[in-house]
Amino acid sequence: MPTFNLIGPGRLGKTLARLLVASGDYQLLGIAGGASPEAAREFIGAGEIGTLATLPPADFWLIAVPDGAIADVARQLTAASAIRPGDVVFHCSGAGEAALLAPLQAKGAKMASLHPVFSFADPALAAQTFPGTRCALEGDALACERLEALVRSIGGEPFCLAPGGKAAYHAALCVASNYLVTLSQLALDTAALAGMNEAEALPLLHGLMTQTLANIGRLGPAAALTGPIVRGDAGTVQSHLHALASTEQLSTCYTRLGIATLPLARQHLTDQLYRQMVDTLTSQSATSAGIVLVPPRP
Ligand SMILES: NC(=O)c1ccc[n+]([C@@H]2O[C@H](COP(=O)([O-])OP(=O)(O)OC[C@H]3O[C@@H](n4cnc5c(N)ncnc54)[C@H](OP(=O)(O)O)[C@@H]3O)[C@@H](O)[C@H]2O)c1
Repeated sequence: MPTFNLIGPGRLGKTLARLLVASGDYQLLGIAGGASPEAAREFIGAGEIGTLATLPPADFWLIAVPDGAIADVARQLTAASAIRPGDVVFHCSGAGEAALLAPLQAKGAKMASLHPVFSFADPALAAQTFPGTRCALEGDALACERLEALVRSIGGEPFCLAPGGKAAYHAALCVASNYLVTLSQLALDTAALAGMNEAEALPLLHGLMTQTLANIGRLGPAAALTGPIVRGDAGTVQSHLHALASTEQLSTCYTRLGIATLPLARQHLTDQLYRQMVDTLTSQSATSAGIVLVPPRP
């Protein structure tokens, strides 16, 4: 049975270790790092507590420390000469590349990053709900191949990213998830201009966002788009801009997102309606905010 060591038994580390042990396909040997490794060991149900310098040889090395500590852990492991040629060493950062482990590659290790698109805020719950989670793999081909099997053994769904793309990949997740939250707050602030309080507005806006998300998943963004921009209704957009004019943050966001929406709407609009919409969105607050119009996709 392949063996692994865990460095950084925090939220993600102890959850993945528990799942790997429970799969019966991987044996946990050592656990290093963290202020309370005993509690992590109890949660995982296996492993001997050690230090970076005393961890035993293992086929896989799961580095689950915070992003800022990964390169330093790689340097310490290199100095400890703990890794054997062919061992797979991987970290779990969303934005960081496998190359953070470069000093270990020089020792013959196969390096990779494995990023589960999942929140490990509550490890006990995470261990139950992890199956079905998509996991991005990037790094040495052999390491990715072996990690594909590892991800599948705990119920995850692996997919591969080309080297050099992690920051953009993580930015995409940030836009899709974090900025969706920002968008919901912008919508609430806009509803407040109509005199609606949060208790009234949130169920209304959340219901609409949920319905729209389902349409995006089913139809893709272009076909899911409804509303005044795709209808070419410049008068309504003008009335929105007027209503938001007193709030610079809201009017700037409205126009920037409206301009980003234009390429999605372009194919549904005549040249004249498209030109009108461009003029409306780039006039007044839009131009004063210094917005540069992005040309529509061909
Ligand atoms: N949490 C998530 O939902 C999630 C999702 C996807 C990816 N990730 C990635 O997973 C990795 C771990 O994140 P996390 O949320 O699990 O962090 P975390 O809960 O803070 O756990 C990090 C663990 O590493 C230990 N540690 C910190 N510095 C160390 C060092 N220099 N040497 C050895 N151990 C060290 C910590 O010990 P102390 O607790 O004593 O500080 C803790 O046990 C990160 O790369 C993160 O980007 C996390």
